[in-house]
Amino acid sequence: MDDVFRLVSMRAERLAMHPLLGWLREARVPLDRRLAILPALAPFAMGYRDVCRLALRYPSPAGDLEAAINEHAAEDATHSRLFLQDWVALGLDEQLGWSTSDVLWWLFLAPETAATRRAATQILALPATDGGDPLVRGAWAEAIEACGAVFFTTAAPLAGQLTGSTGQEYLYLGDYHLARESGHIDSAELFAAQRLSDPQRAQATAAVNCIFGIFEQVFDAMLEYGTGYPAAGRLPERPRPTPRGRPSPRSRPGGQPGRLPPAGLQANASVERLLDERRARTARSPLFEWLRSAQPLPAHDRLAAVVPAWAMSIMGYRDLWTYALPRTGSDGSARHASAWAGELSGHSAVFLADWATLGLDGQPSRTASQALRWLYLDPQTEAQRGAMARFVRLAAGSASPLTRMWLLYILEASGEAWFTATGELAGDAERHLGGPLDYLAGRLEGPGPDGGRFRQKPLSQPERAQVTTMITEVFDEVDVQLGLTLAGASAPSLAGPCASS
Ligand SMILES: [Fe+2]
Ligand SMILES: [Fe+2]
Repeated sequence: MDDVFRLVSMRAERLAMHPLLGWLREARVPLDRRLAILPALAPFAMGYRDVCRLALRYPSPAGDLEAAINEHAAEDATHSRLFLQDWVALGLDEQLGWSTSDVLWWLFLAPETAATRRAATQILALPATDGGDPLVRGAWAEAIEACGAVFFTTAAPLAGQLTGSTGQEYLYLGDYHLARESGHIDSAELFAAQRLSDPQRAQATAAVNCIFGIFEQVFDAMLEYGTGYPAAGRLPERPRPTPRGRPSPRSRPGGQPGRLPPAGLQANASVERLLDERRARTARSPLFEWLRSAQPLPAHDRLAAVVPAWAMSIMGYRDLWTYALPRTGSDGSARHASAWAGELSGHSAVFLADWATLGLDGQPSRTASQALRWLYLDPQTEAQRGAMARFVRLAAGSASPLTRMWLLYILEASGEAWFTATGELAGDAERHLGGPLDYLAGRLEGPGPDGGRFRQKPLSQPERAQVTTMITEVFDEVDVQLGLTLAGASAPSLAGPCASS
């Protein structure tokens, strides 16, 4: 493993020459503005807690190496809170003046955060390729620590200087965090002493190079943000939605999204049967009954009570399709999977327009830091983030274009009962609110680019096993979320984006 650690040191030395660090140290820009680059890092810094808990951590650690990785992950999982404290101390809430939907836009749609979103998603996907091998995982974890050390050793003295003039403590950027970051994973010497097989070394080397490639782009994005916004006295601007025609409702073959006539489906009968069972079970969720019958709450209030519980999942799909789904292959299925993923990536912007129509930013609205806390640290959003981490892993592990089509189809099918229920309320709500609810009305739902014909291609045995796992895991996650949504909707004082935290 020595070789791999040497590669980490070499790449870290190269990263230390990144112009971001020189700019932070020397730019003729007031120090508080130089350190106000945190928004560019938000999706990664806040999402890192989930990387620690859901990607790095071994649920049942076997042996010293896995236990050491868990110990390391437990400490780093607490650092997202430090990031929020610095956000507040730097006055970013007041400077940015963002509502919850502005924060959702920034985290999931803004071009300025594309590199950090990619970083968060690709790192969340790494367990799909490290195969759970603690030596490979230790290598990519060590690379992340080295990248963090490069940044924090530059930032900490600057944060200390700023404390001298403002009297504020900067826990994330300053010495407090640095003291908890040695630049190495816990028990690094234990890892360094291990012998790697050739395939392990190749995998570990590839993972290390992947992490440094990701961080070089994150550093680029931070520098671009710093020079383009705080240094220039400008703020990022969310494009206001332009008036647009409402998409016409799609015709749904067989009456349901993506549902084909039964003839010719014997090819994958066991998979189809399981999917039908799970679809039917999900459609019986008591949440849908609540949505249909929770009188005297009007339709728009019922929608407003359940929609926030899905914000992280719905907005997160775009990154799932963009950064986790492999793009290999050039056959029909590969092309169709890419086209379908591209089409679905557009849905999150429409969801945000529905959010505005429903008035979910509300009064009093959350500050940006409260919104970040709710999205990334609140137990109410835990299940959404857990589901996304699992879907990212399923996507990244779908090497075959045919299983990628299946994953897209299964995720769409898992939302079918939801869109049926919200679709029934959308018309009434639109009349009351005077604006479109295109996402919730299900107007974007369609059968996908090949009309569902991929389902007639026989799956190989390993592909069938993979698709079976996908169906089980996706529907399990969705069923849990539906149950939690109902609990939140029935106790509205605890739920929703306007609750203070
Ligand atoms: Fe940390
Ligand atoms: Fe760390």
